[in-house]
Amino acid sequence: MTRHLRSLMDFSAADVKRTLDLATDVKRTPAAYASKLAGKSVAMIFAKQSTRTRVSFEVGIYQLGGQSLALSTSGGTGMQMGRGETVEDTAKVMSRFVHAIVIRTFGQDQIDGLAQYGSIPIINALTDMYHPCQALADLLTIKEKFGTTEGKKLVYVGAANNVSNSLMLAGPRSGMDVVVCCPDNLRPNPRVLERALADARAAGTRVAVEVDPKVAVKGADVLYTDTWVSMGEEEQAKELIAKLHGYTIDRVMIESTGRESLFMHCLPAHRGEEVAAEVMDGKWSVVFDQAENRLHAQKAVLLLLLGGASWT
Ligand code: CP
Ligand code: NVA
Repeated sequence: MTRHLRSLMDFSAADVKRTLDLATDVKRTPAAYASKLAGKSVAMIFAKQSTRTRVSFEVGIYQLGGQSLALSTSGGTGMQMGRGETVEDTAKVMSRFVHAIVIRTFGQDQIDGLAQYGSIPIINALTDMYHPCQALADLLTIKEKFGTTEGKKLVYVGAANNVSNSLMLAGPRSGMDVVVCCPDNLRPNPRVLERALADARAAGTRVAVEVDPKVAVKGADVLYTDTWVSMGEEEQAKELIAKLHGYTIDRVMIESTGRESLFMHCLPAHRGEEVAAEVMDGKWSVVFDQAENRLHAQKAVLLLLLGGASWT
């Protein structure tokens, strides 16, 4: 059966544990995996900008002995998808050429369509709804810093978005409590929240939404934030920034957790908006370790989905 990473709903808690264990091994002994994707080609389709995701996937595929094709959906060298070729036809054609598709796009329906009509693994490299590769790298970072994700409390402060959606799904799959702290008018997508709450109930962890940062951050092991204006929301930038006044992670906020908290950010960061420079560049920050872990976590995902490593 072809497996995908459309969102973290495709991965059970056991799958997440296996991914993190494999990522740890790949990071420790990269040479052992240097030809695991030999003869395999991976298409990477980007309909939105990227620094970390594109570079880490491209380098990661190279390090595994595979071939990557960096493709866009616009401009003179873009895919025909950008001119209206259907997702169905694209999926069928690409399945004849490559062994997997990594795609960053707007609608989650495009990811679902590629998975439905193609016969190869589809990896979500960010949509408006989810960013699962980011969340896996985040879990790897938390595990490295604390020795475990179990029993830890992560508080995401800012605009509920694709990154916080994936963190809400990551919590129950890793024994971690996740609180999304956001203004009442920027709450998480209700369907994703409902699913995360159900997963948390089943896993015995906590997922919650809290409007007041003072209440939310108490006891947090990790304070996490993301840009207040996601790709595709540029026209609402002024309105979003106004709504998020008071949600900047600064020294006072991180010191009020009552713990030796870490600061995390998926990047790119905007100092003075979602995070104060003194926190972003201060002793709490692990953002560059977190960015590096994109490489190791994604190599593990590629190995598992393309048959370069076993799931058990
Ligand atoms: N965090 C992240 O996905 O970064 P890029 O947009 O640079 O890929
Ligand atoms: N929420 C951000 C994440 C960027 C990595 C966006 O979608 O633009």
